Amino acid sequence: MPQQAYLAALEWHLDMGANEAILEEAQDHLQRPVAAPPPSVAGTSLPVADPPALAGHTPQAETAALAGTQALKQQATELAAAANTLEDLAAAIQNFEGLDIKKTATNFVFADGNPRARVMLVGEAPGADEDRQGTPFVGVSGQLLDKILACIGLDRRAEDPAHSIYISNVLNWRPPGNRTPTPQEMEIALPFIEKHIALKNPECLILCGGVAATTLLHSKESISRLRGTRHIFMPQTLQTDRGIPAIATYHPSYLLRTPSQKAKVWQDMLFLQKMLEEV
Ligand code: URA
Repeated sequence: MPQQAYLAALEWHLDMGANEAILEEAQDHLQRPVAAPPPSVAGTSLPVADPPALAGHTPQAETAALAGTQALKQQATELAAAANTLEDLAAAIQNFEGLDIKKTATNFVFADGNPRARVMLVGEAPGADEDRQGTPFVGVSGQLLDKILACIGLDRRAEDPAHSIYISNVLNWRPPGNRTPTPQEMEIALPFIEKHIALKNPECLILCGGVAATTLLHSKESISRLRGTRHIFMPQTLQTDRGIPAIATYHPSYLLRTPSQKAKVWQDMLFLQKMLEEV
């Protein structure tokens, strides 16, 4: 293959977000384990036993993985509880070694915008541009998000709390290759984002995309069902009797792929404006 073709293939992979070398050697995750040949007796074969359960998929391995996730979530809960300011919390998350995505990310991505804003938006996880710059929602979907917010007079750079917004994500490290975060990663990170919201204490929350909405509303409903209604965010990992009004809306990266849904996000923004008038 000529060198140009290799370069084009490499560029295509980078465009697709596959820009991290995770292991030295390629792994074939689809390959089935090779079963040992059955012993033969006097020219005949003994009945072939069922193949052993795949490593990592036995009930014992699943119980151990669940216990590991819960132990890391408990550690995150304790660290989050000890943080009294946004700066404390950022330092605690940065020092936490319980999320492997930290090892492949370039930068820690905590928040952007005005910490005094009435509204806080929570997305899923940083992408490649956010990872490079250490700031949430700065890539193409972030640029679309800024335009959507501008339609209702919100700007992350505004000084005035009524016209500004504070932006973060459930995860503060980019999952390699922009893959969807695993349920375990979301579970472990939950105490951190819940404390982040509690310290920021917004009057209204925007949960951006299905992953953020289902995680923070502790729901299994789809984003299409969660949008269009007023929710109350109640943290699961810290004690409070004060819920925060919240809306769920489509993620801007979904709108880039499905522009026909932009009208629904416009409705969601008008709904948010009405909620802000009421709180
Ligand atoms: N998508 C997100 O959910 N968050 C970002 O910061 C960027 C893209």
